[in-house]
Amino acid sequence: MSETKTRVAILISGSGTNLQAFIDRAIDGRVDLDIVVVFSNRVDAYGLERARKAHIPWVSITHADYPDRESFDRSVAAVLDEYAPDLLILAGFMRILSPWFVRHYEGRVLNIHPALLPKYPGLNTHARALEAGDSHHGSTVHFVTEELDGGPRILAGRIAIEEGDTSDSLNSRVQAVEHEIYPQAAQWFAEGRLEFRDAAAWLDGKRLDEPVTEDF
Ligand code: GRF
Repeated sequence: MSETKTRVAILISGSGTNLQAFIDRAIDGRVDLDIVVVFSNRVDAYGLERARKAHIPWVSITHADYPDRESFDRSVAAVLDEYAPDLLILAGFMRILSPWFVRHYEGRVLNIHPALLPKYPGLNTHARALEAGDSHHGSTVHFVTEELDGGPRILAGRIAIEEGDTSDSLNSRVQAVEHEIYPQAAQWFAEGRLEFRDAAAWLDGKRLDEPVTEDF
C-alpha cells in the first residue's frame, strides 16, 4: 500500500537508466518506494519518457530560465514539496545544488557517483581510473552535502579493472553495478536502517566511517 511506502522524488538530467532500475524494482515490489515525481532540468531528457511510460508524474524546469542557482533551486523545491517526498534521489542530475537546497532537504538526499569515492569526484571518472592504473573501480552511493561528491558514503559497488578495459566498457559495467546498489541503499533508508546524523551516515545504528563495499 503506497501510504506505507517511502515517497521518493527522482531527479535526472539524462537517459535515466538508474531511474529505470528504481521504476522496475518499485513495480515488482523489490523496494518499498513510491516514486511520486520525476524531475528533470532538461525537458528533452529521455528519463522523462521512462516516467511517462510508467505513469509517474514528471516535471521539468529549465535552469537557464533563472538568474542564479538558488532561485532555480527554490522553484524546484516548491514543485517537489507539493509531492511531499521523504527522500530525494539524484540519478544523473547534472546540477550543483545550492547550499539552500542542501539545507532544505538535509539528510534526505542521496547521490550516486561513478567512482570509488573519495577517488575521482567530478567528471571523467572511468578515464581517470584507467589513467591511474587502478586495479579496481566502481560506484558509490552517498548522502548529499554541500561538498560536491563529498558527503558521507553509504554503499560502494566494486569491480576489478581487466586488461583491455576502456572508458566505455567500464561505463557499462559500472552502470550495471549502480542499478543494484542504488535501489539497495534507498531500500535501507525506506526500512529506517539508514540515516544521516551528526554529519555522518549510520546503518543499523552504526556509524559508517567507510562505506559498505560489495564486489561484483
Ligand atoms: C550514473 O553513472 C551516475 O553515477 C551519475 O550519472 C549517471 C547517470 O546515468 N551520477 P543514468 O542517466 O541513470 O543512465
